Order: sequence, then structure tokens, then C-alpha cells
Amino acid sequence: MTEKISEIEIKKYLTDTEREIIVLPTTDSTNNYAKELAKSGAKAGTAVIARTQTMGRGRMGRNFFSPEGMGLYMSVILKPMIAAEDNMLITALSAVAAARAIEKVCGADVKIKWVNDLFLGGRKVCGILAETVTDFGGQTPEYIVLGMGINVKKTDFPPELSEVATSLENETGESISKNELAAEILKELDRLYTDFPAEEFLEESRRRSMVIGREITVIRGDEKYDARAVGIDGKGGLIISHGGETSVLSSGEISIRVVKDEN
Ligand code: BTN
Repeated sequence: MTEKISEIEIKKYLTDTEREIIVLPTTDSTNNYAKELAKSGAKAGTAVIARTQTMGRGRMGRNFFSPEGMGLYMSVILKPMIAAEDNMLITALSAVAAARAIEKVCGADVKIKWVNDLFLGGRKVCGILAETVTDFGGQTPEYIVLGMGINVKKTDFPPELSEVATSLENETGESISKNELAAEILKELDRLYTDFPAEEFLEESRRRSMVIGREITVIRGDEKYDARAVGIDGKGGLIISHGGETSVLSSGEISIRVVKDEN
């Protein structure tokens, strides 16, 4: 029998039963839904999960493939006390939270592809889309909607995704509970978030990085160049070396591709 994601099942794994968890059969995008809730005053920590999304969104206007019952499509409302320009730290923190939760639930050692993707077996298994809404002055975020899409169940991906995407079950061959995974992510987010802005998670994000030490291609609009990823700085930016100079990338509209090893 296929497992249905539900508030009751998720809460079996949580001690914090007060948390608002809204599970929808379908919506266009859980990020859109969570933004509306945040606008009308929903509490920090509120989570919105959909069994399917009709217009799941990724970074840079991309779609996120969200077939019914196959993945965990979840958005969490956060209200961090940080400067708006530091919001990349939230994406970095969330990637570590998701990686830990996945490891706990299925033992898989997922890698982080700076800054918002998680990879397993060389393919993408999770994408993160953190959307910041600032107050009128624009200095501090009023709230951040943290969206995570994780491919969980055994899935036949469409041809355009089959080379680049995978799922936890495709890679591990094990049966994985979306309810348990959702609960573990919420717990890890809480843990990391309580210590925030302690930067321990950045150390873990460096350790789990699949780009540090690798040749990459940086893509920003029409601009495209090769560089070497050398580290992650204290704000979550990617330190690169390019043309004899060192610089730092912040996520914005930049994407990177890891150049395949020759060996
Ligand atoms: C990316 O791969 O660029 C990010 C993908 C983020 C997808 C998740 S699924 C839940 C939430 N709702 C959305 O519309 N997007 C995020």
C-alpha cells in the first residue's frame, strides 16, 4: 500500500505536537500557499505540504517535477533575525538539515551542490527554494518561505530528467517513509535554527560539499566561465578561483555545473 503523507502520521515522529502542519491534496506551489499564510500572520515554523503540486517552482523560473505521492513537497515559514542580504545562510542551513534527515531515514550520504541542491549517486535528489519577503525598508526579512522538494519514492523520471534526477528509493532500493522524512527535516531545522547564527552548520556544509576542490562552470545570464571552487565563506558564499583571482559567488541568479572528472 502506498504511504499517504498526513499531519497525524508526521506528528507520530515529533514531540512538538503544537506545530502547525497543513497537508494539502494538491496546490500550485506550497511556497505560494505558505506565502499567503505568512502574509495573514501564520506563526514561524508553520509547514505546508502537498501530495502533488501543479506548478512546483525551482530557482531561476524552473519547474519542479512534483508527481502525486512520489516526493516530499514542503514549505516552512521562517522568521529569522538576520539581515536580508544574509538569507543565503538559511539555504545553506536548510541543505544541511535535509542532508542530515535523509541520512537518518535511509543512511544515504547525500552531497550538497552549492547552494541549494542535494545529490545522491551523482544525480539531484532534492532542491531548495528559499524566498525572502522583506519589510518596507528592506533591511530584515519579514519572513522567509523555505521550500524543499525531495524525490522519495521509486520513480520513472521523464526523459528530460532521467539523466539528472533521481530519488531516494531509486538509489537505496529501500522503502522510505515521507512522513518520517518530513518530521526529521523539521526536527533538524529546529536544531540548527536554535543555534543560528552559530556557524557550525557551515563546517558541515563544507564537508558535504560536492563542489569544493572541483572545476566548475559558472553561469550568470549569458555569461559563462570556468573556475575552481575552493571553499564556502562565513556567509555561505562560494569562494572560487578564476583567472588567477579569488572571488565569492552569492547564489542570486547564478548557477554552477560541476565539470566531470577526466578519470
Ligand atoms: C530547485 O531545484 O531549484 C528548487 C526546487 C524547490 C522545490 C520545492 S517543492 C516545495 C516548494 N514549493 C515549490 O513550488 N518549490 C519548492
